[in-house]
Amino acid sequence: MDNQSPETIVGGKSFTAVAINCAAKAGEWVKSRSGNFTQLDQKFSQHDLVTEVDKGAERLIRNLIATHFPHHSFLGEEGVEPGPEASARALESAADAEYLWIVDPIDGTTNYVHGFPFYCVSIALAHHGQVIVGVIYDPVRDELFLAERGKGAYVHGRKMKVSEDGELSRSLIATGLPADHLQALPANLKGIQSLAPKVRNLRVAGSAALHLAYVAAGRLSGFWEVGLNAWDIAAGSLLVEESGGTITDMNGEPYHLGVRNVAASNGRIHGEFIGALKTV
Ligand code: IPD
Ligand code: CA
Ligand code: CA
Repeated sequence: MDNQSPETIVGGKSFTAVAINCAAKAGEWVKSRSGNFTQLDQKFSQHDLVTEVDKGAERLIRNLIATHFPHHSFLGEEGVEPGPEASARALESAADAEYLWIVDPIDGTTNYVHGFPFYCVSIALAHHGQVIVGVIYDPVRDELFLAERGKGAYVHGRKMKVSEDGELSRSLIATGLPADHLQALPANLKGIQSLAPKVRNLRVAGSAALHLAYVAAGRLSGFWEVGLNAWDIAAGSLLVEESGGTITDMNGEPYHLGVRNVAASNGRIHGEFIGALKTV
């Protein structure tokens, strides 16, 4: 566990308590500003948006974490230059950190901007590159999804379990439409073309992190997307694992923080799922 001297930790709170507190505070604030943001900017492209609420929520989370754990490292979406290369560089330079907080202050900004009520705050803590705490908070439904490595995953205190679907044809699967229209979007569209006829149905609701939380909760049997970043996936990866599911890259290799092309499922359908995605 944390080997900092006790006097450097204000309040002596556990990692998980701080993660929950940050997600709940930021989520409430984000929701309170819904429909009232004043600055809408484009990042990588016109499909990649940011508001002052994204930036403010990340500042709030960063400051709270620094108050409790001043020596921990921090990787937040809004502190990184837009674009896949800059994201990869930022992750690389943080990868050696003993403790690394990985934060997406609003996952689903496009939904947030349009008033479509499907977005969340995503916070993970990694220890030497392995995610040990994951919290995803949906302030619209007041649902807090939480996992601690080795201790299970919970939504509002109820233990989560992935779905029992054993075949793709009975599965509800989600994906995303990435902002990178040069590479990630065409690759994902091919996946949609291949999977749509094989599954019960597909959903594209606009928040990768919340989709992963729904896989963990058994509401979806799978999720995949090409071109994501560590802050979209890290917290959700632990939720899925601790709920009994499987998360890999799209070749079936184990998930790690550098994975950008991700496939998560209830485990039972995983082979069939990534097999179908590979045929594109
Ligand atoms: C986006 C969402 C979306 C996914 C994009 C992500 P953001 O994150 O997770 O569902 O399709 O690839 O970038 O920009 O809202 O934090
Ligand atoms: Ca995101
Ligand atoms: Ca975001």
